[in-house]
Amino acid sequence: MNKSKRSKIKEILQRGEVQSEVSVMGWVRTRRDSKGGFSFLEINDGSCLSNLQVISDHNIDGFQSVSEKLHTGSCVGVTGKLVPSQGKGQSVELQAVSIKVYGEANPEQYPLQKKQHSFEFLREIAHLRPRTNTFGAVMRVRNRLAYSIHNFFQDRGFVYLHTPIITTSDCEGAGEMFQVTTLDPESPPMADGKIDYGQDFFGEKTSLTVSGQLEGEVYAMALSEIYTFGPTFRAENSNTSRHLSEFWMVEPEMAFYDLEDDMNLAEDFLRYLFKDVLEHCQEDLEFFNKRIDKTILERHRGIVENKFERIPYSEAIHVLEKSNKNFVYSVEWGCNLQSEHERYLSEDVFKKPVIIFNYPDEIKPFYMKANEGGETVCAMDVLLPKLGEIIGGSQREDDYEVLKKRMKAKELDTEHYQWYLDLRRFGTAPHAGFGLGFERLVQFVTGMENIRDVIPFPRTPKHARF
Ligand code: 4AD
Ligand code: MG
Repeated sequence: MNKSKRSKIKEILQRGEVQSEVSVMGWVRTRRDSKGGFSFLEINDGSCLSNLQVISDHNIDGFQSVSEKLHTGSCVGVTGKLVPSQGKGQSVELQAVSIKVYGEANPEQYPLQKKQHSFEFLREIAHLRPRTNTFGAVMRVRNRLAYSIHNFFQDRGFVYLHTPIITTSDCEGAGEMFQVTTLDPESPPMADGKIDYGQDFFGEKTSLTVSGQLEGEVYAMALSEIYTFGPTFRAENSNTSRHLSEFWMVEPEMAFYDLEDDMNLAEDFLRYLFKDVLEHCQEDLEFFNKRIDKTILERHRGIVENKFERIPYSEAIHVLEKSNKNFVYSVEWGCNLQSEHERYLSEDVFKKPVIIFNYPDEIKPFYMKANEGGETVCAMDVLLPKLGEIIGGSQREDDYEVLKKRMKAKELDTEHYQWYLDLRRFGTAPHAGFGLGFERLVQFVTGMENIRDVIPFPRTPKHARF
């Protein structure tokens, strides 16, 4: 295999130039035979959405021996000549001189034949679905967004921080954690009628992290501006189109930022990502706009061009109460906003992204800075039309005594979190941060209905096989 000569289909189509010898490698999407003794193959190598059309004369050397292996799904290498394309839509096509089949795909057994498959069906073949147009496009967009997230923070001097996956702290205080243990679940060691975690691998009870924030704060108190971008885990039994048990989160944490600075950064960040993806994933986004949701391009452009709406929680409640909508969950001051409320505000009322800030203390975690009067905290959520919450963040409580009191009120073991309290004891600083759900971002950008279809291998309640 002479890999040095291999060209990617994306480059061939972008250049659009004729060439005397070129090799491509990829998977056959379709094969069609003409009466005149020619086969037409559509080849895709994942470098872009488009296929390259290959024409093969049945008389070329060795064609007969490979012909019966050339099906939808077969993996091939084709060497030949790039010539101007006869068909519309493509500048060049490949006239085969030789074809090699690396692996065939028995048409009786290969599940991805020409027809459209439902996303539910494709979820059952998560190992093959990357070979469809939709999943190729989703993963290229996902890749670009990840790259662009790093660019955004790196350009601003933020330090990329790797926070631990195994932890003993419950950042969100919701107790929705997956336990990590090497104890025998059938006969764990006991002490005083309880499981003795002292004998567990780490000598205490450990779990998979729900957020890298607390550790992020530690480093923001030394490096000023950091961000994390890693997997997070939540054992909440939410079977919705917006929840995963394992998802990726981006969490910037900044010293010397207040809530307003935090909101400004979140807004700049989202606008930057949309602008970048519109510029660099044009072909894939046009595909989504045509096949998945006909409004996404317009919506994304609107986000890039317009300021977000910002309203305090109290005002949001007022707007919701005034509306004549029949919500499933009723609204009153102090309630958690449900997805239906969030969508109503951003989709129907403001018709653009909305940032809601100053939430009631009762419904938010211990680490948020209390506002004067103590009823509300310096929290903010960014809501997007069609999706609801994409970002949650806050200014953090930086006063030692106030934080300690809040932790006690929320029944946290202050001794266990002494390291976190220490950040307020030694050189405390005002600081803030937020968390962006990466899959929700990919979902919004692509218009995909279900979050399970924007991550390579979704983990959800009762589902972790592949
Ligand atoms: O609002 P959350 O729970 O905030 C935090 O975890 C903070 N510690 C973040 C911070 O201030 N550093 O989660 C942040 C975001 C949500 O807005 C949502 O986009 C996403 O993470 N998210 C989920 N995405 C997919 N599946 C789930 N189960 C999610 N839970 C939260
Ligand atoms: Mg939240």
